Amino acid sequence: MTDDSAFEAAATIRERKPGFRPWLGMILGSGLGPMAEQIDEPIVMRFDELPGFPVSTVHGHAGELVLGTLFGLPVACLKGRAHFYEGYGMGVMTSAVRTLKLLGCETLLVTNAAGSLRREADAGSLVAVTDHINLLPGTPMVGHNDERFGPRFFSLSNAYDSELLGLLKASAHASGIELHEGVYAACPGPNFETAAEIRMMSVLGADLVGMSLVPEVISARHCGLKVVAVSVVTNLAEGLGTVALSHDQTLKYAALGAKDLLVLLQAFVTELARRPDTRASA
Ligand code: HPA
Repeated sequence: MTDDSAFEAAATIRERKPGFRPWLGMILGSGLGPMAEQIDEPIVMRFDELPGFPVSTVHGHAGELVLGTLFGLPVACLKGRAHFYEGYGMGVMTSAVRTLKLLGCETLLVTNAAGSLRREADAGSLVAVTDHINLLPGTPMVGHNDERFGPRFFSLSNAYDSELLGLLKASAHASGIELHEGVYAACPGPNFETAAEIRMMSVLGADLVGMSLVPEVISARHCGLKVVAVSVVTNLAEGLGTVALSHDQTLKYAALGAKDLLVLLQAFVTELARRPDTRASA
Protein backbone atom coordinates (compact mmCIF):
# COMPACT_ATOMS: atom_id res chain seq x y z
CA MET A 1 0.00 0.00 0.00
CA THR A 2 1.58 3.29 -1.03
CA ASP A 3 0.78 6.71 0.32
CA ASP A 4 1.04 9.45 -2.30
CA SER A 5 0.10 12.34 -0.01
CA ALA A 6 3.64 13.79 -0.01
CA PHE A 7 3.60 13.91 -3.85
CA GLU A 8 0.15 15.53 -3.80
CA ALA A 9 1.22 18.13 -1.22
CA ALA A 10 4.39 18.91 -3.22
CA ALA A 11 2.29 19.39 -6.37
CA THR A 12 -0.12 21.72 -4.51
CA ILE A 13 2.81 23.78 -3.19
CA ARG A 14 4.47 24.00 -6.62
CA GLU A 15 1.22 25.40 -8.05
CA ARG A 16 1.32 28.20 -5.47
CA LYS A 17 4.98 29.07 -6.03
CA PRO A 18 6.08 27.68 -9.40
CA GLY A 19 9.81 27.11 -9.81
CA PHE A 20 10.53 27.64 -6.10
CA ARG A 21 13.05 25.16 -4.74
CA PRO A 22 13.77 25.51 -1.01
CA TRP A 23 17.17 24.39 0.26
CA LEU A 24 16.32 24.41 3.95
CA GLY A 25 13.20 22.90 5.53
CA MET A 26 12.33 24.19 8.98
CA ILE A 27 10.01 23.00 11.72
CA LEU A 28 9.24 25.56 14.41
CA GLY A 29 7.98 24.25 17.75
CA SER A 30 5.82 25.58 20.59
CA GLY A 31 5.80 29.37 20.73
CA LEU A 32 8.67 29.63 18.20
CA GLY A 33 6.49 30.39 15.17
CA PRO A 34 7.32 34.15 15.09
CA MET A 35 10.68 33.20 13.55
CA ALA A 36 8.79 32.75 10.28
CA GLU A 37 7.97 36.49 10.27
CA GLN A 38 11.53 37.09 9.06
CA ILE A 39 10.81 35.28 5.79
CA ASP A 40 10.78 37.65 2.78
CA GLU A 41 7.97 37.55 0.22
CA PRO A 42 6.20 34.77 2.09
CA ILE A 43 3.62 32.48 0.56
CA VAL A 44 1.55 31.01 3.39
CA MET A 45 -0.45 27.79 3.11
CA ARG A 46 -2.51 26.20 5.86
CA PHE A 47 -1.71 22.59 6.76
CA ASP A 48 -5.34 21.65 6.06
CA GLU A 49 -4.78 22.61 2.40
CA LEU A 50 -1.88 20.14 2.17
CA PRO A 51 -2.45 16.37 1.95
CA GLY A 52 -0.58 14.49 4.68
CA PHE A 53 0.15 17.57 6.82
CA PRO A 54 -1.21 16.94 10.33
CA VAL A 55 -3.19 19.78 11.86
CA SER A 56 -2.05 20.39 15.42
CA THR A 57 -4.61 20.91 18.14
CA VAL A 58 -2.07 22.54 20.48
CA HIS A 59 -2.12 26.24 21.33
CA GLY A 60 1.11 27.85 20.03
CA HIS A 61 1.23 25.71 16.87
CA ALA A 62 -0.14 27.73 13.95
CA GLY A 63 -0.24 24.92 11.39
CA GLU A 64 1.06 26.90 8.42
CA LEU A 65 3.69 26.30 5.79
CA VAL A 66 5.60 29.46 4.84
CA LEU A 67 7.67 29.52 1.64
CA GLY A 68 10.13 32.29 0.88
CA THR A 69 13.63 33.59 1.48
CA LEU A 70 15.13 33.74 4.96
CA PHE A 71 18.30 35.83 5.27
CA GLY A 72 19.08 35.04 1.63
CA LEU A 73 18.29 31.32 1.75
CA PRO A 74 15.25 29.69 0.07
CA VAL A 75 13.27 27.97 2.84
CA ALA A 76 10.07 26.02 3.47
CA CYS A 77 9.06 26.56 7.06
CA LEU A 78 6.48 24.61 9.04
CA LYS A 79 5.04 26.89 11.69
CA GLY A 80 3.94 24.34 14.22
CA ARG A 81 3.94 20.58 14.12
CA ALA A 82 1.71 17.81 15.39
CA HIS A 83 2.76 15.36 18.04
CA PHE A 84 2.47 11.67 18.82
CA TYR A 85 0.23 12.46 21.82
CA GLU A 86 -2.39 14.08 19.59
CA GLY A 87 -3.23 10.59 18.40
CA TYR A 88 -1.65 10.66 14.93
CA GLY A 89 0.73 7.78 15.67
CA MET A 90 4.48 7.66 15.12
CA GLY A 91 4.19 8.60 11.44
CA VAL A 92 2.72 11.96 12.47
CA MET A 93 5.32 14.05 10.60
CA THR A 94 6.50 11.59 7.95
CA SER A 95 4.46 12.87 5.01
CA ALA A 96 5.20 16.54 5.74
CA VAL A 97 8.93 15.80 5.99
CA ARG A 98 8.84 13.84 2.73
CA THR A 99 7.08 16.77 1.08
CA LEU A 100 10.03 18.98 2.04
CA LYS A 101 12.36 16.44 0.47
CA LEU A 102 10.30 16.32 -2.74
CA LEU A 103 10.35 20.14 -2.96
CA GLY A 104 14.17 19.98 -3.07
CA CYS A 105 15.19 20.56 0.55
CA GLU A 106 18.55 19.08 1.49
CA THR A 107 18.58 19.94 5.17
CA LEU A 108 15.98 20.07 7.92
CA LEU A 109 16.32 22.50 10.82
CA VAL A 110 14.12 21.53 13.75
CA THR A 111 13.36 23.66 16.79
CA ASN A 112 11.37 22.66 19.82
CA ALA A 113 10.65 23.42 23.44
CA ALA A 114 12.15 21.03 25.98
CA GLY A 115 12.72 20.46 29.66
CA SER A 116 16.34 20.44 30.81
CA LEU A 117 18.01 17.81 32.99
CA ARG A 118 21.00 20.12 33.47
CA ARG A 119 20.70 22.90 35.99
CA GLU A 120 23.28 24.98 34.11
CA ALA A 121 20.90 25.07 31.10
CA ASP A 122 17.91 26.68 32.80
CA ALA A 123 14.71 28.14 31.27
CA GLY A 124 15.47 30.36 28.27
CA SER A 125 18.70 28.50 27.36
CA LEU A 126 19.41 27.13 23.89
CA VAL A 127 20.70 23.58 23.47
CA ALA A 128 21.96 22.08 20.20
CA VAL A 129 20.81 18.47 20.01
CA THR A 130 23.73 16.06 19.45
CA ASP A 131 21.77 12.78 19.61
CA HIS A 132 18.51 11.36 20.89
CA ILE A 133 17.04 8.57 22.99
CA ASN A 134 13.70 7.38 21.68
CA LEU A 135 11.34 6.57 24.56
CA LEU A 136 8.26 6.79 22.36
CA PRO A 137 6.34 3.54 21.84
CA GLY A 138 7.71 2.78 18.37
CA THR A 139 9.31 4.49 15.39
CA PRO A 140 7.80 6.06 12.25
CA MET A 141 9.23 3.59 9.74
CA VAL A 142 7.46 0.50 11.07
CA GLY A 143 5.26 -1.16 8.43
CA HIS A 144 5.49 -1.04 4.64
CA ASN A 145 8.72 0.59 3.45
CA ASP A 146 8.21 3.12 0.67
CA GLU A 147 11.39 2.60 -1.40
CA ARG A 148 10.76 5.88 -3.26
CA PHE A 149 11.98 7.66 -0.14
CA GLY A 150 14.56 5.39 1.43
CA PRO A 151 15.72 1.87 2.24
CA ARG A 152 14.17 -0.58 4.69
CA PHE A 153 17.15 -0.43 7.04
CA PHE A 154 19.05 2.77 7.64
CA SER A 155 21.60 4.17 10.04
CA LEU A 156 21.03 6.87 12.63
CA SER A 157 24.72 7.52 13.13
CA ASN A 158 25.39 11.20 12.56
CA ALA A 159 21.60 11.73 12.70
CA TYR A 160 22.35 15.26 13.91
CA ASP A 161 24.82 16.27 11.24
CA SER A 162 28.23 17.00 12.75
CA GLU A 163 29.23 19.50 10.07
CA LEU A 164 26.02 21.52 10.49
CA LEU A 165 26.41 21.31 14.26
CA GLY A 166 29.90 22.77 13.88
CA LEU A 167 28.50 25.61 11.79
CA LEU A 168 25.77 26.21 14.36
CA LYS A 169 28.32 26.38 17.17
CA ALA A 170 30.48 28.78 15.17
CA SER A 171 27.40 30.93 14.49
CA ALA A 172 26.57 30.99 18.22
CA HIS A 173 30.12 31.98 19.07
CA ALA A 174 30.19 34.73 16.43
CA SER A 175 26.90 36.19 17.63
CA GLY A 176 27.65 35.98 21.35
CA ILE A 177 24.85 33.50 22.09
CA GLU A 178 25.43 30.78 24.65
CA LEU A 179 24.67 27.40 23.07
CA HIS A 180 24.71 24.23 25.16
CA GLU A 181 24.85 20.74 23.63
CA GLY A 182 22.85 17.75 24.73
CA VAL A 183 21.07 14.47 24.15
CA TYR A 184 17.27 14.70 23.75
CA ALA A 185 15.00 12.04 25.23
CA ALA A 186 11.61 11.85 23.50
CA CYS A 187 8.66 10.96 25.73
CA PRO A 188 5.08 10.37 24.58
CA GLY A 189 3.36 13.10 26.66
CA PRO A 190 0.95 14.81 26.98
CA ASN A 191 1.62 14.56 30.70
CA PHE A 192 4.96 15.87 31.83
CA GLU A 193 7.25 13.19 33.25
CA THR A 194 7.48 12.04 36.84
CA ALA A 195 10.53 12.96 38.91
CA ALA A 196 11.49 9.26 38.98
CA GLU A 197 11.35 9.06 35.18
CA ILE A 198 13.58 12.11 34.95
CA ARG A 199 16.11 10.48 37.31
CA MET A 200 16.03 7.39 35.08
CA MET A 201 16.63 9.48 31.95
CA SER A 202 19.49 11.23 33.65
CA VAL A 203 21.14 7.86 34.31
CA LEU A 204 20.54 6.92 30.66
CA GLY A 205 22.44 9.97 29.46
CA ALA A 206 19.68 12.43 28.56
CA ASP A 207 20.19 16.19 28.91
CA LEU A 208 16.81 17.27 27.51
CA VAL A 209 13.31 15.87 27.57
CA GLY A 210 10.50 16.66 25.17
CA MET A 211 7.47 15.34 23.31
CA SER A 212 8.52 15.85 19.69
CA LEU A 213 11.65 15.89 17.48
CA VAL A 214 12.28 12.16 17.15
CA PRO A 215 9.43 11.23 14.72
CA GLU A 216 10.49 13.97 12.29
CA VAL A 217 14.21 13.29 12.63
CA ILE A 218 13.83 9.56 11.91
CA SER A 219 11.56 10.38 8.95
CA ALA A 220 14.10 12.90 7.67
CA ARG A 221 17.07 10.54 7.97
CA HIS A 222 15.14 7.82 6.15
CA CYS A 223 14.71 10.06 3.09
CA GLY A 224 18.25 11.43 3.27
CA LEU A 225 17.66 14.91 4.67
CA LYS A 226 20.47 16.19 6.87
CA VAL A 227 19.28 17.36 10.28
CA VAL A 228 20.22 20.13 12.66
CA ALA A 229 18.14 20.67 15.82
CA VAL A 230 17.98 23.28 18.57
CA SER A 231 15.87 23.02 21.72
CA VAL A 232 14.72 26.01 23.69
CA VAL A 233 14.66 25.12 27.37
CA THR A 234 11.36 26.19 28.87
CA ASN A 235 11.84 24.61 32.31
CA LEU A 236 14.04 22.43 34.43
CA ALA A 237 12.69 18.88 34.13
CA GLU A 238 10.35 17.53 36.82
CA GLY A 239 12.04 17.14 40.19
CA LEU A 240 14.83 19.62 39.39
CA GLY A 241 12.97 22.90 39.61
CA THR A 242 10.49 24.55 41.92
CA VAL A 243 7.88 25.76 39.41
CA ALA A 244 4.91 23.53 38.53
CA LEU A 245 5.14 22.47 34.89
CA SER A 246 2.45 23.73 32.51
CA HIS A 247 1.98 24.57 28.85
CA ASP A 248 1.62 28.26 29.77
CA GLN A 249 5.09 28.12 31.24
CA THR A 250 6.35 26.39 28.08
CA LEU A 251 4.97 29.20 25.90
CA LYS A 252 6.27 31.95 28.21
CA TYR A 253 9.86 30.67 28.25
CA ALA A 254 9.80 29.61 24.61
CA ALA A 255 9.13 33.27 23.81
CA LEU A 256 12.09 34.27 25.98
CA GLY A 257 14.45 31.78 24.35
CA ALA A 258 13.09 32.64 20.92
CA LYS A 259 14.85 36.01 21.05
CA ASP A 260 18.28 34.38 21.28
CA LEU A 261 17.20 31.68 18.85
CA LEU A 262 16.37 34.30 16.26
CA VAL A 263 19.83 35.88 16.61
CA LEU A 264 21.47 32.44 16.40
CA LEU A 265 19.48 31.31 13.39
CA GLN A 266 20.05 34.59 11.58
CA ALA A 267 23.80 34.02 11.88
CA PHE A 268 23.50 30.33 10.96
CA VAL A 269 21.20 30.79 7.97
CA THR A 270 23.21 33.77 6.69
CA GLU A 271 26.33 31.59 6.84
CA LEU A 272 24.54 28.79 4.96
CA ALA A 273 23.39 31.28 2.33
CA ARG A 274 27.04 32.20 1.67
CA ARG A 275 27.86 28.65 0.65
CA PRO A 276 27.88 28.06 -3.10
CA ASP A 277 25.80 24.86 -2.85
CA THR A 278 22.76 26.36 -1.13
CA ARG A 279 21.00 28.09 -4.05
CA ALA A 280 20.91 31.34 -2.12
CA SER A 281 19.06 34.08 -3.91
CA ALA A 282 20.66 37.11 -2.26
N1 HPA B 1 8.93 17.56 29.46
C1 HPA B 1 8.47 17.21 28.23
N2 HPA B 1 8.26 18.08 27.28
C2 HPA B 1 8.52 19.37 27.52
C3 HPA B 1 8.99 19.80 28.77
C4 HPA B 1 9.21 18.84 29.80
O1 HPA B 1 9.65 19.15 30.92
N3 HPA B 1 9.15 21.16 28.68
C5 HPA B 1 8.78 21.50 27.42
N4 HPA B 1 8.40 20.43 26.72
